[in-house]
Amino acid sequence: MNAIEVKNVTKVYPAIKGYKELLLHPFQRKGTTALRGIDLEVRPGQCFCLMGPNGAGKTTLIKILSTLVLPDEGKAFIKGHDLEKETDEVKKHIGFALAEERSFYWRLTGLQNLDFFAALNNIPLSKRRKKIQEVIDLVGLEKAAGRRFNTYSTGMRQMMAIARALLTDPDILFVDEPTRSLDPVAAQNIRTFLRKEMVENHGKTVFWATHDLSEAAEFAHTIAIIAEGQIKAEGSVRSLTGQGSFPLKEVYEKAVKEPAPESKAFGN
Ligand SMILES: Nc1ncnc2c1ncn2[C@@H]1O[C@H](COP(=O)(O)OP(=O)(O)OP(=O)(O)O)[C@@H](O)[C@H]1O
Ligand SMILES: [Mg+2]
Repeated sequence: MNAIEVKNVTKVYPAIKGYKELLLHPFQRKGTTALRGIDLEVRPGQCFCLMGPNGAGKTTLIKILSTLVLPDEGKAFIKGHDLEKETDEVKKHIGFALAEERSFYWRLTGLQNLDFFAALNNIPLSKRRKKIQEVIDLVGLEKAAGRRFNTYSTGMRQMMAIARALLTDPDILFVDEPTRSLDPVAAQNIRTFLRKEMVENHGKTVFWATHDLSEAAEFAHTIAIIAEGQIKAEGSVRSLTGQGSFPLKEVYEKAVKEPAPESKAFGN
């Protein structure tokens, strides 16, 4: 069974209309089409990179798969469970760390934050302390855990977001640009952690959005290139580059420029 399955998923963000326009054209379907008929399959234990330029739809797809946003059309399944009909079951299998992390309490320590989120996730009191220690050890924040979150570096905050995602012991981890704004060493630590620790040592499926080509080339089993809300190319680095005959950058640039097929093109 696939870890993740996406079938013809489409998302249109409505344009914010003024009262006058709403009264004059109540049924007009204006807005931004973020995803246009996305089809994807991700096998368990894969490190899957969703690669695409700004505004391609990466975050929107991650938000849909993390049950934060509903699609307008299409279906998605996590380990065979329908995202919309079996949301509670889906939530048991997923963890996510989004790009813009604003939900931590800055005046609380890392430990206190994790305790709060563990309670929010209904982790019983008897197991909470052990679980929190386990995720802190896993991400290597033992020394910083007792410090206030506002004293953390960007890299530490990102690791804390991943630690929080791991509290429920999910099989599938969604990470949205986990290395954005990080220095090369911190970025490499996160990449190695996701691929080696999460995927290879713990057998998790990692769904990783990035626009860093070299990151995807080095760490992904499979890459999907998304642009203008559509998957333009997909496969292993070897297959995408013709067994290394041409650079991934060339493949990426060509795929991003490729016009949308007529059948899936929308009005805007
Ligand atoms: N809440 C929203 N309301 C309206 N439009 C939105 C909203 N969120 C995203 N969009 C639009 O949907 C499209 C896809 O955005 P999305 O954030 O998914 O792209 P992305 O690939 O994650 O980009 P980036 O690399 O910049 O993070 C963009 O055109 C964006 O402007
Ligand atoms: Mg994004």
